[in-house]
Amino acid sequence: MQQWLPAWRSDSYRGKVIDVEHGDSNYSLVTLKLQRGWPVHTAGQHIQLTIENNGRLLTRTFTVASSPDLYKQQQKITLLIKRQQKGQFTGQLADIIKIDQWLSISKAQGDFVLEKSEYPITMVAAGSGITPIMSMLTQHLSTIKQPVYLRYIASHNQHYFVDLLSQLSAQFGHFEFDLVDRKQHQNMPLFTNEQLQDVYCCGPATLMNSIKLQAQALGFSYFQEQFSLTPLVNLQQQEFKVSLGTNELAVTNQRTLLEELEHLHQPVVRGCGIGVCHQCQCVKKKGIVKDIRTGDLSGAGEQLIQLCVSQPISDLELSL
Ligand code: FES
Repeated sequence: MQQWLPAWRSDSYRGKVIDVEHGDSNYSLVTLKLQRGWPVHTAGQHIQLTIENNGRLLTRTFTVASSPDLYKQQQKITLLIKRQQKGQFTGQLADIIKIDQWLSISKAQGDFVLEKSEYPITMVAAGSGITPIMSMLTQHLSTIKQPVYLRYIASHNQHYFVDLLSQLSAQFGHFEFDLVDRKQHQNMPLFTNEQLQDVYCCGPATLMNSIKLQAQALGFSYFQEQFSLTPLVNLQQQEFKVSLGTNELAVTNQRTLLEELEHLHQPVVRGCGIGVCHQCQCVKKKGIVKDIRTGDLSGAGEQLIQLCVSQPISDLELSL
């Protein structure tokens, strides 16, 4: 099967690209028609998309921007993909993807979904963090009754879905939104009263941390999603030796093992880059790594590790 369809996987589903819309912003909206039987997502969840590029299979994680109802009615989903990130696959992806191309899509995952509640809802999205929020709004605004406010932060002219947001606001009197840039956001208080509410946030880690602290200080329920891992924070730079077969390499503790080994042109496999797909998994034979998602330290002996979420803490011996 993989000879005809290189991006095909036994644990995944096929989707055909039926539209690619390059707007004025740095994002492209890609519409896929999926094969029957794909387990429909819950609004807010993400999928892994695998594509063949120059003979290599590459996987990235994207949140579905469209509603579950769109898939149920037309078997379609939409993904918002960032362009113009020089040298990075995700940034080039919108240009690689062509109409009529077949891609491989995983089942949807993730727990950033709208919780049942009667409290007013405040949503904060930044950049591509708008995608799970759009899926939630288009799916749920017709059935929820409480006020919903969205603050959408992006650089000037980089807001996406503006027409759709305006339509939703005209159609549903309980939905309002503001389009702001980062500076405006910093100068506009988000919570103007202390009435209990549910807060949903998707964007960079620093923004989410700040919204989380504000929400929790007021006793609000807080939910978040993030597209990237929290950056490594190291008090002191250290260098360690990594044995890979007969090679001995020097790495620092300032980046993940995946980034360090890619930098050293080692034959590592990068998938989602956020600890979801396990494509970067390898055997650590000796040494200690830290899982940057949880802060947990590994044992010193043999175990499977995911390179993209592992920070070296000692000299290591690995088998790729
Ligand atoms: S690249 Fe997906 S888990 Fe590491």
